[in-house]
Amino acid sequence: MTPAELLRRVHGCAFDDFLLSPQFSVVARRDPARIDLTSRLTTKLVLKRPIVSANMDTVTRAPMAIVQAEEGGLGIIDRGFRPGEIEGQVREIQIVKRTQHGVVSDPYTIPPDAGLEQAIQLMQRSGVGTLVVVDAARRLLGLLTERDVRFVSGAARVADRMTPAQRLTVHEGTIGIDEAERVMVEHKVKKLPLVESGGRLLGLITARDISKHRRQPFATRDAQGRLRVGAAIGATGDYLERAAELIRAEVDVIVIDIAHGHSVVMASAIEQFRRRFGGFELIAGNVGTAEGARFLVERGVDGVKVGIGPGGGCTTRITTSFGVPQVQALVECRLAIGDRVPIIADGGISRDGALALALLFGGDTAMLGSAFAGTLETPGEIVHKPVVLPEGQRTVRVPFKVLRGMASIGAIKDRLDVEDAAEVDLDAIGAEGLETSVPARGSVRPVIQDMLKHLCSAISYGGAESLADLRRSFWSDPDRYLIRLSAAARRESYDRS
Ligand code: XMP
Repeated sequence: MTPAELLRRVHGCAFDDFLLSPQFSVVARRDPARIDLTSRLTTKLVLKRPIVSANMDTVTRAPMAIVQAEEGGLGIIDRGFRPGEIEGQVREIQIVKRTQHGVVSDPYTIPPDAGLEQAIQLMQRSGVGTLVVVDAARRLLGLLTERDVRFVSGAARVADRMTPAQRLTVHEGTIGIDEAERVMVEHKVKKLPLVESGGRLLGLITARDISKHRRQPFATRDAQGRLRVGAAIGATGDYLERAAELIRAEVDVIVIDIAHGHSVVMASAIEQFRRRFGGFELIAGNVGTAEGARFLVERGVDGVKVGIGPGGGCTTRITTSFGVPQVQALVECRLAIGDRVPIIADGGISRDGALALALLFGGDTAMLGSAFAGTLETPGEIVHKPVVLPEGQRTVRVPFKVLRGMASIGAIKDRLDVEDAAEVDLDAIGAEGLETSVPARGSVRPVIQDMLKHLCSAISYGGAESLADLRRSFWSDPDRYLIRLSAAARRESYDRS
């Protein structure tokens, strides 16, 4: 099939317009631990699982981003904080970056002459059970653990209770995780401080972090072993200042996220961003057309976010009649930019099977919002609402959480997202998002894991050995796979009411 024929075939189509034809299966087990799902998030960043949680203020804050990264994907922290209030977003990044480390490069430290009371307070405030004792030149003097301060009263000082450096196992220089584990096992220690040749503290490795590494082999980590996380900014107002603070907090990727990314506002934002932050990893969106995708790639972004109006909390198409059905958008953008820059398929994945379609039609990774809504890791309070059971007159109180589009009037009101306007006339803002209640449920972790299992099953049905293999096979002969559904076939496939 030529690209032009494929484009004609998917014109006006969404995920539910298609089924894929099963092929001869070649995998022995549909197991996410064995099937390679590696995908590019940006030109430089790779995810072992192709899932990204949406930058929505009812979906992704630190708890969601942590689980996403632990499971091999990535969370993008939304910018739903009031203009000028950048610290809130920065704090979320810091929480993720501090969650889990390979090497803790900036461990909590305390001077030797500090009182134990001060040490206990620092442990409580930081939630850290080991403090590194250093002198004014940051040379390692010892370690102080929770056990050292337990049941001690009076005016004792840190130096009186710490384990001095001479009695510790200390490594000079940097060290890989495997080698660190070997040293710690050999010396039967749970903490390994790293120092320069002069004794200055370089970092700390803990047994707890190493075992987390082992238990989560697919986690998305940076070079220091910390979880990766992204953050969204706008294209006007405080966006450059926000980006500067986020980059200082060591965010891994910035997303310039506006509803219509094929715009003069976006062109200027990318230009300013590049001028100020050079080659820092940058994703931009959203676009839904070939011209839109090319426009972003020509301006040097590292990732393109595709989706105009497919999102669950989105009313853009209803209120403006503009938008592009998501399958058409993905195929158009993929054909326009090839493999030069990775695509994030953003929105409209309301059942697990649609994830496979999003990743075949053009998405290198997929961004999801409503699929994660209501889970434990989403921000927001649980409210109990009475619900009448259909079979009888009984009413039960069901826990709900709010899911709202970032362009819903509620979200706009909360962050006053008209960044340069002093006076805000809320009625004059065209809201393009819904606010809904979704049932509160447990952790997002099994939701992600189920999604990945289903994706592996799709790879098996598709006759491939890995996600990359399935993509190759699909694009080499789309005709072998594509079944355009009749209304009856769609009912048979997807309507289960
Ligand atoms: P899903 O379908 O996974 O989609 O919930 C998530 C994506 O929806 C987009 N989004 C919006 N789009 N108005 C819009 O037009 C909104 O208020 C809105 N809120 C979120 C966004 O791209 C997100 O990643």
